[in-house]
Amino acid sequence: MPCSFPRRNVHFEFNMNIFGCAVKEPVMEVVICSDEQQVGQVAANRVLRWVEGLATPVLGLATGSSPLALYNELARRVEEGEIDFSCGIGFALDEYVGIDPENPLSYRQTILRTVVEPLRMDPTRVRVPNGFTPDLAAAALEYDRAIAAAGGVDVQVLGIGSNGHIGFNEPTSSFASRTRVKTLTEQTRADNARFFGEGERVPTHCVTQGLGTIMEARHVVMVATGRHKARAVTAMIEGPVAAVCPASILQFHPSVLVVVDEAAATGLNHADYFRHVADILI
Ligand code: GLP
Repeated sequence: MPCSFPRRNVHFEFNMNIFGCAVKEPVMEVVICSDEQQVGQVAANRVLRWVEGLATPVLGLATGSSPLALYNELARRVEEGEIDFSCGIGFALDEYVGIDPENPLSYRQTILRTVVEPLRMDPTRVRVPNGFTPDLAAAALEYDRAIAAAGGVDVQVLGIGSNGHIGFNEPTSSFASRTRVKTLTEQTRADNARFFGEGERVPTHCVTQGLGTIMEARHVVMVATGRHKARAVTAMIEGPVAAVCPASILQFHPSVLVVVDEAAATGLNHADYFRHVADILI
């Protein structure tokens, strides 16, 4: 089947006219969903709208449990023949340092399992930062160059860490940062310990796309579910833009959709306003 992204019906079509100006994409748009399944549907609809018409869409891929509902929904549509990602290009956000890319715990294998296979992408067109090389700095530099050579990321999928990190950009990361080695916080290592078996040590370092790299994506879809994400979500959306919550830099991005479930929205002071805006726009 040829690669194609046909027109389709989407739930959320934003076409507002405010004081005579056509507004196609609000800057940081927040949608609060009743459950994880709806989060996946809303996020998938938007991804498909943003890649529509692109012959070789470039996706920025996140690991973690948050985007799974989105990937599952996209996979369902691939399964039904509605879309075809076989010509898509993918760049993962991050990778652990010191874990063999063949190890099932590596983000390379995680991306292959959770995204590449279900979406039937071509694995040779999907890259993950190299955390298993003696020259990590050179590999990181080359990674940013490869993203640029592919024409940049069209749609970046993001989750958020409980401490507000995106990728593995831990609190106090520079807003201008590029792909590089970072030291993981103890909080992140504790959060991710669930993926590692007893006696297996969670790595202390990673290679992650920088905040500056992530901000260059044309569109961003951020998904967050669960009460344990509520604090980070509130800081990202309503807090000041500050390096203590790296995700807050997204307030400066020109095209971001944040999709959260009720639990992740519990800390939002402006939840009613976001619901009101979504009601008007739908
Ligand atoms: C990891 C990843 C992030 C991800 C975060 C949240 O640390 N590096 O990209 O967003 O965890 O993961 P989860 O969605 O499983 O809570």
